[in-house]
Formats: sequence, structure tokens, C-alpha cells
Amino acid sequence: MSYKNVIPTKVGILIMNKQIFLLFYFFLLCSKVFADTPSDIEKGKELYHAYGCALCHGMEGRGDGIGGQRFDPPPTNFYNRMGYLHGSDTDSIRSSIQYGIKEANSIMPSFEHIPPDEMSQIISYLKSLQSKE
Ligand code: HEC
Repeated sequence: MSYKNVIPTKVGILIMNKQIFLLFYFFLLCSKVFADTPSDIEKGKELYHAYGCALCHGMEGRGDGIGGQRFDPPPTNFYNRMGYLHGSDTDSIRSSIQYGIKEANSIMPSFEHIPPDEMSQIISYLKSLQSKE
């Protein structure tokens, strides 16, 4: 057996490096694909903005949006779980959003056209805020 076959040639090293590089690139691609898949909470945050909730409830959900400051009751601050007037559990939140608040002074509109999967994502976002304070 000659030495030549055992010691990798320059080309051999290059090919090996290329394989390692490809493997590395593959993992990089995987991590990117997973990172780009937004969680329900992140998707819910996007929808919260897309449906205009921030107008009243504020950019971060603190109840300080420009549209709701002169109203009584004021828009709910989603960080304060105790501040919910109509229940802070999943079902209550869903019905508040879907049907609106039908009480005399309330300006909370109904959002009956939001599809169920998007509704769940919005609720996930609001509930994630509850646990932040
Ligand atoms: C026009 C202003 C306005 C917009 C837009 C709005 N809200 Fe509200 N929302 C309010 C006000 C004011 C209240 C408090 C009403 C009350 O308690 O009677 C409220 C209450 C709520 C509640 C019930 C909280 C509780 O006190 O139990 C939830 C949940 C809620 N809003 C979610 C949303 C979501 C999600 C969106 C967007 C899809 C949204 N709101 C859009 C004004 C608004």
C-alpha cells in the first residue's frame, strides 16, 4: 500500500471541507427556517396590529391607544389581569373580541369576521401579556 492513498491530497482536503461546509450550511438553513416560523404569540401580535386593536388598546396593549382615551370604561390594559371587566380566561376573552362589549357606554366593537385560528393567536398574545406583570 502506498502512502499516497492514505494521506489526503489537497483535493481530498478541499472536498472534505466542502462537505463540512455543506453540513454547516444545512444546519444554518434549518435554524433559519425554524426561526422564521413565528409562534402563535408573535402571530397574534401581528394580527393585533393588523386588526387595529392598538388604536384603542395601545401599541403594546397597555390600554393607552390614541382612540380610547376619553372613554369610560377605558380600553383594557392587557397586562393587568385584575383589570379585565369581562373575564381574563380564554373563553371570556374570545367572546369579548368576537361579540364586542354590548354594554351602554362601551366602545369595544365586535370582530365577528376574525377566523378561529387567528382568534386563538390573538388570545395567545393577550394572555402572554397577562403573565408579564
Ligand atoms: C374603538 C376602540 C377599540 C378597539 C378598536 C378595540 N377595542 Fe377592545 N376594548 C375597548 C374598550 C373601551 C374596552 C373596555 C370595554 C368594557 O370593558 O366595557 C375593550 C375591551 C376589550 C376586551 C375585554 C377586556 C375586559 O375588560 O374584560 C378585550 C379582550 C378586547 N377589548 C380585545 C380587543 C382586541 C383583540 C381588539 C382588536 C381585534 C380590540 N379589542 C379592539 C376598545 C377597543
